[in-house]
Amino acid sequence: MKSLWSIAAFVFFLAVSFACAASAEEARSLFEKKCSACHGIDRPKSKAKTPAEWRSTVLRMKSNGAAINDDQVRIIVEYLATNYPKK
Ligand code: HEC
Repeated sequence: MKSLWSIAAFVFFLAVSFACAASAEEARSLFEKKCSACHGIDRPKSKAKTPAEWRSTVLRMKSNGAAINDDQVRIIVEYLATNYPKK
């Protein structure tokens, strides 16, 4: 019985890590697709900003004409703040 629980816990752990990996991958492809429409993807990639600064940049891109909804703004801001943080 005890080993059954550890197997269940292990399977749960695997499922959670796959779910996280998939969403990080989705965030990256969303960012690369949406943020390379007007300028190169290197433009954001060469910057380092705080989460608040990334948020205002992404919102400014939205008013520049980027086709992103509020959910996508949130996902892209989170991705940028994690991968291109201000040092
Ligand atoms: C509709 C066209 C368009 C799209 C789509 C777009 N941008 Fe921009 N971007 C611009 C323009 C125009 C500028 C220069 C003027 C400005 O800074 O607002 C710019 C400048 C920038 C800069 C340099 C200025 C700064 O504040 O550091 C960054 C970084 C940037 N964009 C990031 C992004 C990200 C991240 C996305 C995806 C959410 C994105 N852009 C999508 C038009 C766009």
